[in-house]
Amino acid sequence: MDVSQPLDPLAKTALWTASMRAREHRRADRLFSDPLAETFAGDEGPKIMSQFEGHVQSGVEDPALAVRTRFLDDQLLKLDADGVRQFVFVAVGMDSRAFRLEWSPDVLIYELDRPALLTFKEDLVRGLHAQATAARVPLGVDLLADWTGPLLESGFDSRQPTCWLVEGLLYFLEPHERDVLLHRLTDLSAAGSRLLADYVGQTILNSPGMAAWRARMVEQGHPWKSGSDRPEELFVPLGWEIQVSAYGDPDADYGRWSDTAVAPGMLGTRGRYLLIADKQ
Ligand SMILES: C[S@@+](CC[C@H](N)C(=O)[O-])C[C@H]1O[C@@H](n2cnc3c(N)ncnc32)[C@H](O)[C@@H]1O
Repeated sequence: MDVSQPLDPLAKTALWTASMRAREHRRADRLFSDPLAETFAGDEGPKIMSQFEGHVQSGVEDPALAVRTRFLDDQLLKLDADGVRQFVFVAVGMDSRAFRLEWSPDVLIYELDRPALLTFKEDLVRGLHAQATAARVPLGVDLLADWTGPLLESGFDSRQPTCWLVEGLLYFLEPHERDVLLHRLTDLSAAGSRLLADYVGQTILNSPGMAAWRARMVEQGHPWKSGSDRPEELFVPLGWEIQVSAYGDPDADYGRWSDTAVAPGMLGTRGRYLLIADKQ
């Protein structure tokens, strides 16, 4: 049975990233452990992964997913240690952090994604008898429509500092969709909130080296639609201070990045980055 049948092409990218985490989990020198990832990726995740990696440069494993996962894990656990108790994983996909990280007992994690994706994930969770390590509220929404109402109705408290995790999403949005999402997040963010995200530079996105990869993303129904060379311009006017780490910077390397490491299709590029934004 093809259990991933009801998923739309963009939701299926969550199987792809799960399959990259499963691959990392199998490494002796893994940067994190994700025992659920292989089941979450299913049969389809590795197929999508191989289409894209193999297509660009055969034999080269893109280290970005492993680096970003570990970077974000470290940030999330630091926030937990600093006392943040409300987390929202926006476009959570098949992320298993609510199961695999050691959270403080009173942490609450909202998991937002399309309803079909979350139903698919919950079926797998039940089948695995997986136990979450934090209270977890899956919430099926369309992030391009009104998702803030359902979040507030589910108990989200906008007076508390929140950690927003926006991983693997922003480049799938048109600029105006990204901006609306950031405005909505901002409206719900008390001072002391933090937003963690990954994104891509517009220059690298427009570069000839990305063209074949982007065309394939279009063919598969999940194009990358936006990037930014100056992410501070997206966040600072909304009242956030931001720190940008390019992959390969000392804090976003973990011994995995090198001049031969690739952004999709590009040798030695530093055009993708990780963001930490703090609401003033
Ligand atoms: C590349 S996956 C990233 C999943 C996860 N954050 C990760 O890094 O593995 C993109 C996710 O965005 C979700 N997504 C995209 N557009 C969405 C929308 N309009 N509403 C809800 N979820 C959306 C997809 O369903 C998918 O799970």
